Amino acid sequence: MTHVHVVGIGMGPQHLTQEASATLRAADYALAVRKGADDDLLEVRRLICAEHGLPLVEIPDPERDRDDPADYPGAVAAWHAARVEAYADELTARGGSAAVLVWGDPSLYDSTLRILDRLGERPDLSGSLTWDVIPGISAPQLLAARHRIVLHRVGRPVHLTTARRLPEAVAAGQRTIVVMLGSAASLAQLDELPDWEIWWGANLGATGEQLVAGRVGTVLPALRAARETARRQAGWVMDAFLLQAPDEVHR
Ligand SMILES: C[S@@+](CC[C@H](N)C(=O)[O-])C[C@H]1O[C@@H](n2cnc3c(N)ncnc32)[C@H](O)[C@@H]1O
Repeated sequence: MTHVHVVGIGMGPQHLTQEASATLRAADYALAVRKGADDDLLEVRRLICAEHGLPLVEIPDPERDRDDPADYPGAVAAWHAARVEAYADELTARGGSAAVLVWGDPSLYDSTLRILDRLGERPDLSGSLTWDVIPGISAPQLLAARHRIVLHRVGRPVHLTTARRLPEAVAAGQRTIVVMLGSAASLAQLDELPDWEIWWGANLGATGEQLVAGRVGTVLPALRAARETARRQAGWVMDAFLLQAPDEVHR
């Protein structure tokens, strides 16, 4: 039998819950995808594994075709399939109890649980593979904590989406939106929302952390500069933000 613990590690060792630490100490080995020679998030996983006496097996990330944005779902599906193969090879060869260390929490924009669903359907693994999930602190949670805010107005909804899908969320009438998976280029969409309020954070809980809040039209230049500062200080940048429409802010 092979068992996989999918462990949310938040934004680093300081966020590990006691449950996550105990799980890592009891596992036989950890599996992690290596994205390149200087994969800073892999470095965090190496540190956590070392602290927990856990051998780390690094799986080279399969190539992903980023040249054809028109077939984004196709490119992601092929990349997922290649990742499934890579995980299957390691798990069948090693067995025992493995830990997969997921940045933030596995429930948000992470493919690990989909990969395990696929693995569980394979004839060579079905019946012999089980898994569980240990939650971690996600980027939206840390964003709310740093800005000391509730993500939604009293009793109101919050919509969580990607930067790519922000325009359709606004067009559909969403008034309170958490946005992830953005880039420097996708910030241009905010030019269309000058009167919305934003609570933004980059590299939360990590080197180069930056926070900016205020009316979009006022703070956007400072926010762009802060994004570059985060990248300069850490060598990488990830950001997330909450947007609230002007009529929602005063509810
Ligand atoms: C692939 S998703 C992973 C999300 C993760 N599973 C979670 O629970 O937060 C990566 C996106 O999460 C957000 N993110 C992750 N780490 C972050 C950080 N330290 N600061 C700000 N945003 C972060 C960014 O929007 C980034 O583009």
